Amino acid sequence: MIDRRPEVLPPNAAALHKAGAMIREGALVAFPTETVYGLGADATSEHAVAAIFAAKGRPQFNPLIVHVAAAAEAHALVDVDDRAKLLMERFWPGPLTLVLPRRKRSGLSLLVSAGLDTVAVRAPNHPAALALIKAAQRPIAAPSANRSGSVSPTTPQHVVESLGHRVHIVIAAGRCAVGVESTVLDLSGPVPALLRPGAVLRESIESLIGPIVMGGGSPDAPKSPGQLLSHYAPAAGVRLGAFNANGDEAFLTFGPDDFARGGAERLNLSPSGDLAEAAANLFAYLRKLDRPGIRAIAVMPIPEEGLGVAINDRLKRAAAPRE
Ligand code: TXA
Ligand code: MG
Repeated sequence: MIDRRPEVLPPNAAALHKAGAMIREGALVAFPTETVYGLGADATSEHAVAAIFAAKGRPQFNPLIVHVAAAAEAHALVDVDDRAKLLMERFWPGPLTLVLPRRKRSGLSLLVSAGLDTVAVRAPNHPAALALIKAAQRPIAAPSANRSGSVSPTTPQHVVESLGHRVHIVIAAGRCAVGVESTVLDLSGPVPALLRPGAVLRESIESLIGPIVMGGGSPDAPKSPGQLLSHYAPAAGVRLGAFNANGDEAFLTFGPDDFARGGAERLNLSPSGDLAEAAANLFAYLRKLDRPGIRAIAVMPIPEEGLGVAINDRLKRAAAPRE
């Protein structure tokens, strides 16, 4: 554990070079991606990966995504079949994570797979992330850069608030364009399974590789441990499907909301009803509304289409009963 404030650096060549060298030495570097900020470490080092789990306070059974700069690098880590190849060509770099069989000589930490014989890989679509991976000359294991169980960070300020002295360097590049975590698709079996909805839509995947099924495993024995229901939870409660809010609630609305009443305060995810804008604002607004004195955050319905599927998935988890 580190006991001082992190160095917050701009995404210039000198900073990325320094951060890459620090990764090779086992340090933790928070960095921007197009989805959310990641908490990165050398994916080939058991020690460095263990430090991620410690910093997040993350249950050890939850495996991590390994970030690479290009598809060619993934081939050294996992078995890439024809389906995976097609998807990588179409969507990488981008917000699509593929769970694939782990290669024997991958060189990856065992902890990164948390005991599974698969590895989740993705190439993030952000220049600073790609430059960092290249500078580190290592695949980078990175979960979202927040304490386990809380909302993912979409700004460098969120990272500092959540992980503070637990991270060595924060590469600060403003807010994340997408705002919700990557789509996770399990290709380790014969039938592809969507483990987490995200900005790469189910329909777009199916148009390339045919039908996929939702989820994997049951809620009690999730295939993807990150699917545990209560997740991404703010401290205040979350009430979904609200058209009005009570006096002790904050109100998170979407689209035209002149008709809606009440709420101690109100934020609109996208007054024009744009789902991409709503996704980009989601986690930052949940954080803003989650403050002492607010008993619950009431949320207006979001259409279950396009990016709305990912938004509703995160909201359902935020609203789920807490352990
Ligand atoms: O957008 C993102 O994916 C961000 C950025 C930083 O890349 N990362 C992220 O990581 O959201 P994390 O750790 O918060 O979520 C990773 C998800 C979890 O639900 C985890 O259980 C699942 O991916 N996962 C990772 N490896 C897996 C594996 N081998 N098999 C099944 N699920 C896996
Ligand atoms: Mg996370």
